[in-house]
Amino acid sequence: MHRFQNKIVLVTGGSRNTGLDIVERFIREGAFVWTCGSSPASTAKGEAALNERGLGGSFRALPCDISDHAQVTALFDAIERESGQLDVLVNNAADQGLNQGGPLDVDPAAMLKVLATNVVGGFQVTQMACNRFFAKQETRGCVVFLSSNTARRAIRNRTSYCASKGGINSLVRSLALDLGPLGIRVNCCAPGYIYTERWDTLDPALAARRRKNCPIGREASGADIAGVVAFLASSDSSNITGEIITVDAGCSCQHMPIDCDC
Ligand SMILES: NC(=O)c1ccc[n+]([C@@H]2O[C@H](COP(=O)([O-])OP(=O)(O)OC[C@H]3O[C@@H](n4cnc5c(N)ncnc54)[C@H](OP(=O)(O)O)[C@@H]3O)[C@@H](O)[C@H]2O)c1
Repeated sequence: MHRFQNKIVLVTGGSRNTGLDIVERFIREGAFVWTCGSSPASTAKGEAALNERGLGGSFRALPCDISDHAQVTALFDAIERESGQLDVLVNNAADQGLNQGGPLDVDPAAMLKVLATNVVGGFQVTQMACNRFFAKQETRGCVVFLSSNTARRAIRNRTSYCASKGGINSLVRSLALDLGPLGIRVNCCAPGYIYTERWDTLDPALAARRRKNCPIGREASGADIAGVVAFLASSDSSNITGEIITVDAGCSCQHMPIDCDC
């Protein structure tokens, strides 16, 4: 399939893990992809990983902290100068808000940093994509956010992250409503467990237990997520907007995990 031939795509957070698989999927389907990590070092690492996958020449990676308006502006200046169009935005970048403690301990400044990246960052990248490209181009663009199943079913001691993903779900519906009349679709993929390099540091017994509690027996791969993102960005989903598709191996449909069953 070459659904993105001659399309220009921006995927934020393409320096590691799922972002790399999303970038690869769009390239394999014909797109030229822009991507970013939050710093020059992480962006260079992502660039090397994409080159290793044989994708060199089909993407451009620039550092951009999406919570910083000036850096977002600079990224869009480069896209305008070098590509002159943008067709798809994937808001994948996220601050995981790890190790912030329980809600009695979370430093509000640390929470603000998570919200500044995940909610405000995603919003300002979307706003700029719409103002500079999507609302102006004859072929309108579309937006896909990455949320999480934790927006609806919380996980312990991840207050800031869960709140930010809930914010994204509401943001998606709000943007879909307001941007629909302009011909711009906004949708969301809400993953559960995704296999990332962080799984390699897990106690194998914990990894096995997580898998056992997935009704279909395994976490998502980055490629699983990339496939759903590509569907939401393609004309195959042309009548869908404001939708949040959960991709969590069925975890959200169970009342209790299997190791709690009687
Ligand atoms: N992994 C899971 O199990 C899981 C589950 C549900 C939902 N999700 C969601 O799926 C998406 C991908 O997850 P993942 O686990 O692959 O993510 P990840 O490994 O934590 O990578 C996050 C990416 O976002 C970038 N990023 C973070 N803060 C940024 C900022 N301020 N400006 C620009 N880029 C920034 C990181 O860049 P640096 O390398 O520079 O830090 C990195 O490229 C995220 O939205 C995540 O919340 C993941």
